[in-house]
Amino acid sequence: MADFFNSFWGVAVATVTIASIAGLICFAIVQSRGRRPPGAGTETMGHTWDGDLEEYNNPLPRWWLNLYYLSLAFGIGYLLLYPGLGAYQGYKHWSQNGQYEEEVKKARDTYGPLYDRFLHQDMKALAKDPEAHKIGARLFATYCTVCHGSDARGARGFPNLTDHDWLYGGEPEQIKESITNGRQGGMPPWGEVLKKEEIAEAAQYVLSFSGRQTDAGMASRGKEIFAKNCAVCHGQDAKGNPQIGAPNLTDDIWLYGGSKERIIESITFGRSGQMPAHKNFLDEAKIYLLAAYIYGLSNADGGK
Ligand code: HEC
Ligand code: HEC
Repeated sequence: MADFFNSFWGVAVATVTIASIAGLICFAIVQSRGRRPPGAGTETMGHTWDGDLEEYNNPLPRWWLNLYYLSLAFGIGYLLLYPGLGAYQGYKHWSQNGQYEEEVKKARDTYGPLYDRFLHQDMKALAKDPEAHKIGARLFATYCTVCHGSDARGARGFPNLTDHDWLYGGEPEQIKESITNGRQGGMPPWGEVLKKEEIAEAAQYVLSFSGRQTDAGMASRGKEIFAKNCAVCHGQDAKGNPQIGAPNLTDDIWLYGGSKERIIESITFGRSGQMPAHKNFLDEAKIYLLAAYIYGLSNADGGK
């Protein structure tokens, strides 16, 4: 029924289909009549071309008719078993979705246990397991490299997953949560709230953490602006807040670029990076393996 927005169309299509089949059967019956007894000679349609080209009026050959009946029988059988007659589902209740789900279930039954056995292992230990690492790397290559890069080092707006700088925290549970439910960064735009000058001052203050501010006066005014407007999310010390993914602004690691222009752009227009949720198409065990893989990448140096 899903393909028809009301039952009228389902019935109309089925009626046309059945009428066509009935028409084809009548045609075959009519055509197979009028067989002359053997030796009765031939009859012509009465047309002649070029004086001696004539058209015979012979009935259809048997073999042709038999093939024709066979295809009709096949067509009718098909329409009874499978969907095709309007909204009728067919005796077998087959559907593309049904077949897809069956195949997915079969694959899950076959391959699921291969993944599931990892679920019972501690993620930190799993991060060191070479086999889990290999599977994790393959899953990462399939699902994550478009955004985070094949080396997982990210790009502008897409965080590096191999370092110790985390927007939302780098503990196994937090990484798993990022993958499972996704994350939505929410840095509000300040272009309409603060004056251009104030934004420049806030940027000078932000630059001062990495010793790059060029105007101490501006930076100290920026400090007040920061305390009033920015500290709620980034913290009084500007070291960020993993609860809401507000980045640490003091570590000279930048998601959107650390030049003065980029920082002003971040403040003026805001930022809203989005990490998509993966729970709808990756099962728990695959997410677990991916989280272990990333935990392993980030801690490959022993947590330095
Ligand atoms: C469509 C692009 C996209 C895809 C695909 C994607 N990510 Fe992300 N991911 C992001 C963005 C953007 C962020 C940062 C969100 C923000 O700015 O708040 C992020 C954040 C993360 C974080 C949190 C990082 C931190 O610093 O806390 C983790 C972990 C992560 N992604 C892992 C993965 C894994 C594993 C996959 C593959 C299963 C994946 N991502 C696929 C775009 C993507
Ligand atoms: C509502 C919480 C919130 C407030 C208020 C806020 N920020 Fe942000 N800020 C964020 C979040 C969250 C991100 C990360 C956005 C993302 O992941 O896409 C961010 C990102 C940034 C970045 C980019 C960092 C990078 O690594 O590229 C800068 C710079 C920044 N904020 C400065 C400020 C300044 C200055 C103010 C005050 C004028 C401010 N923020 C106020 C939440 C906030």
